Amino acid sequence: MFAEIRVKGRQGESLVKIGAIDAAAEFPQSDIATLLVTEPEVLRLHGGRLPSFPRILVARGEEAKSVEGLEALWSAFYEADLDRDARILAVGGGAVSDLAGFAASTWKRGITFEYLPTTLLAMVDAAVGGKTAIDFRGRKNLVGSFCQPRRVLCDVAFLDTLSDLEFASGMGEVIKHALLAGGEYLSLIEGLEGRRPRADSGPGREALEAIVAGSIACKAAIVNRDEREEGDRRLLNLGHTIGHALESILEIPHGHAVAAGLASAIRLAERRGGCEPSLLPRIESLLRVWGLPSSVGEAIGISRKAREGGPAADEPWLRKTIASAVAADKKRSGDGIRFVLPHDPAAMEIIRIPLAELEAFVRETL
Ligand code: GLY
Repeated sequence: MFAEIRVKGRQGESLVKIGAIDAAAEFPQSDIATLLVTEPEVLRLHGGRLPSFPRILVARGEEAKSVEGLEALWSAFYEADLDRDARILAVGGGAVSDLAGFAASTWKRGITFEYLPTTLLAMVDAAVGGKTAIDFRGRKNLVGSFCQPRRVLCDVAFLDTLSDLEFASGMGEVIKHALLAGGEYLSLIEGLEGRRPRADSGPGREALEAIVAGSIACKAAIVNRDEREEGDRRLLNLGHTIGHALESILEIPHGHAVAAGLASAIRLAERRGGCEPSLLPRIESLLRVWGLPSSVGEAIGISRKAREGGPAADEPWLRKTIASAVAADKKRSGDGIRFVLPHDPAAMEIIRIPLAELEAFVRETL
């Protein structure tokens, strides 16, 4: 299979390709000055199949998305004397693409950048849609830009080296997209029954490409209606209001936090009325087969296991901290917060919920 999906942006279009990527054909040694930005582990695992452009290494994971990380990248651009015709190729997970995309979108008021994502999470979410960012003063993605990468090249062969935990984290975002899209895509994801396909066999590669292409198609359709998150793109925040708070406090992987946030959003929708009663058990069992948490309590359990200890669910300060973190979300305005409530697959409502109600809900359901 070879799929191409286009994402429209105010400053240009992005082409997303899903299939076996031939780096030599995609990146012929031409007169375009190109710097390859990646991180050491990606270089160790995949260095042999990357195009041979000069390489800049950044820190692993979220740590890279700092003011210092950005300054180091700008300095490397300066040393390389990058002009406006130059190109950045970011290879790795979402942190590498968020940082490199932001550095490129601001260098000389914006130079071309392309992504070769190597994680499921980056393929289905971070690399697509044109959001770039760094973290600031402990807040995720506080400084950034909307700027589309020229191309995003997704080769599922990279996914075979992910740990099961990293793969499951990507599935958290995949399940979010499946719930937003409903229909055949949701059935496809349910049909996997938690079995992880591998790209080293023909059927496995096909299954992975269908997962990735379906998720990207869902996200691209939404971004094409609303690149700047003034309306429909807010749907992509499904599960993220509670999810972001869990991610920062419990230090669990992004997709695991979103999974618990998704199930919590369904519970809140049930409490407010209008949610199909079959939705919660359906999504809970989908999350469970991937080892993803389907409640805030289960997210706490994952955090305790990973950190050999950590906070217990019945500690009152933890309820308070999570509830305040939810209330401090970027989507807050005044005493309310925009929240995506799922009623059924492909049937969402975006409403403003009073902060007091949301805080009480988190405390009571924890
Ligand atoms: N990850 C949500 C978005 O791209 O809008």
